[in-house]
Amino acid sequence: MNILILGAGGREHAFAWKLAQSPLCDHLFAAPGNTGTAQVATNLPIAITDFAAIATATRTHNIDLVLVGPEEPLVKGVVDFLRQQPDLAHLRIVGPDAAGAQLEGSKDFSKRFMNAHGIPTAASQTFTADNVAEGLTYLETHSLPVVLKADGLAAGKGVIIADTIDEAKTTLTDMLDGRFGQAGHRVVIEQFLRGIELSVFVLTDGVNYKILPEAKDYKRIGEGDTGPNTGGMGAVSPVVFATDAFLKKVEERVVKPTLAGLQQEGIGYKGFIFIGLMNVKSEPVVIEYNARMGDPETEVVLPRIQTDLIELLVAAADGELDKVTMQVATQTAVTTVLVANGYPDAYTKGHPITDLDRLAGLDEVTAFHAGTADNNGATVTNGGRVLAITAMANSLENAIRKSQEAARMVQFDGKYFRKDIGLDLIRYQD
Ligand code: AMP
Ligand code: GLY
Repeated sequence: MNILILGAGGREHAFAWKLAQSPLCDHLFAAPGNTGTAQVATNLPIAITDFAAIATATRTHNIDLVLVGPEEPLVKGVVDFLRQQPDLAHLRIVGPDAAGAQLEGSKDFSKRFMNAHGIPTAASQTFTADNVAEGLTYLETHSLPVVLKADGLAAGKGVIIADTIDEAKTTLTDMLDGRFGQAGHRVVIEQFLRGIELSVFVLTDGVNYKILPEAKDYKRIGEGDTGPNTGGMGAVSPVVFATDAFLKKVEERVVKPTLAGLQQEGIGYKGFIFIGLMNVKSEPVVIEYNARMGDPETEVVLPRIQTDLIELLVAAADGELDKVTMQVATQTAVTTVLVANGYPDAYTKGHPITDLDRLAGLDEVTAFHAGTADNNGATVTNGGRVLAITAMANSLENAIRKSQEAARMVQFDGKYFRKDIGLDLIRYQD
C-alpha cells in the first residue's frame, strides 16, 4: 500500500516511523516532510495547503491512503477537495472533512456542539464585534480567573487566561478589534476550570471507535509549568491519574456522545479526535477538541500501539474499525522536546545538529524530527521545536531518565529542553 502523510513535524515523523514498520507498507511519502520522515519516506516538496498539488501527487504516486497530520489543511477542506475529484474515489483518507474539523476550527462551534449533546464542558458565552458592550458587561460579574478564546485557529496563541476584570476587558476588546486576525472576530468567554489536564485520543470511522493511549502534554516553556505556552515541550503516556474508572467516564460521557452528536449533525467523521480534558475532582470536563493527533503526544502514543497502524487506519477509512482489535504496550513512553533558544518567540535556524547518531545505540530511544532540514548532507535546525526524543521503559522513572539522557547527548547551538517532564506524575504516583 502506498501512503501519503501530510505535514512536517514530529507527529508526522512518528507516523512515518510507525507506518514504515508495517508489512502492508509499500511506499511511504511525506508532503513536505522533514529530515526525519526522509529516513523512511520520500519527501515531496508540496505545501500542506496546496490541495491541487496534493491531488496530483496522489495520482502520480498511486497513493492508496492519505493521512492528514495538522489541522490547517483539514479546516481549510483538503478532505472535501480530494473527495470532489472523480478519479480519486478509491482514495482512503484519514482526517475529517471541513464540517468535522470545525470541532477544532471554531471554539464557538465546539461549545455549541458540546452543549447540544450534553458533553461536560466549562460554562461559556460567545461574543462578536456586534455585541462587544454586552461582552464587557458579562465580564463585570464573571468569576476570576476568566478564560477568553479566539474562535478560530490561532496556532496555540488564541487562549488568554485573565486574572483581573480589567485584563479580561482589554483582551476582549483587543481580540474583537482584530489583534488575533480573523480568528478573533468571535470570542468565547469561559469559566476557568481547576484540575489536572490530560488528553485522550480517539480513532473513529464515524460509528466505531478505538480509544488510543492517553497522554499528558507539557505546554509551558519553563520548568514547573511557567512562562508562555508552546506547541508542547514533552509528553508522557500512560497518565497515572487516568484510572480505568476515569477513562470509563470519558468514554461514556464524552466519547460516545461526541460520536452520536456527529452522526446526528450529519457529519461523517473518519479520523482522529483529540480530546483535551481537565480532570476536575475525578470528573472529566472537555477543554477542547482537536481534529487530529497531538504533537508531541503522538510521539508517546504511537510507540505504545502494538497493532499494525496501517490496519487501524484502513479500518477507520473503510468504516470497519469494529473488525480490528488494538493492543497497547503497558510500558511508559516519555518524550522530551529540544527547542531552539528563544522559542516560542523569535529564534534562529540553520544550526548544525551533532551527536544524533549516538542515540542509535540506545535501547528503545527514538529521535523524532520536528524542525530539522538537510543542508548539503548535514542535519540543521529548521524550527522552534527541533527534535522530540522518546524513550520507552518499564517504569515512568526509567522512561524519564532515558529520554533526558538522550536529550543531553544531542547538541546544537541554543538547545533548550525542560528537565521536569513527567516528574509531577512521579509525585502523583507516590
Ligand atoms: P486550548 O487552546 O483550548 O487548548 O487552550 C490552551 C490551554 O489553556 C489549555 O491547554 C489549558 O491549559 C488552558 N485552558 C483552556 N481553557 C481552560 C479553562 N476553561 N480552564 C482552565 N484552563 C483552560
Ligand atoms: N500538544 C498540543 C497539540 O498538539 O495541540
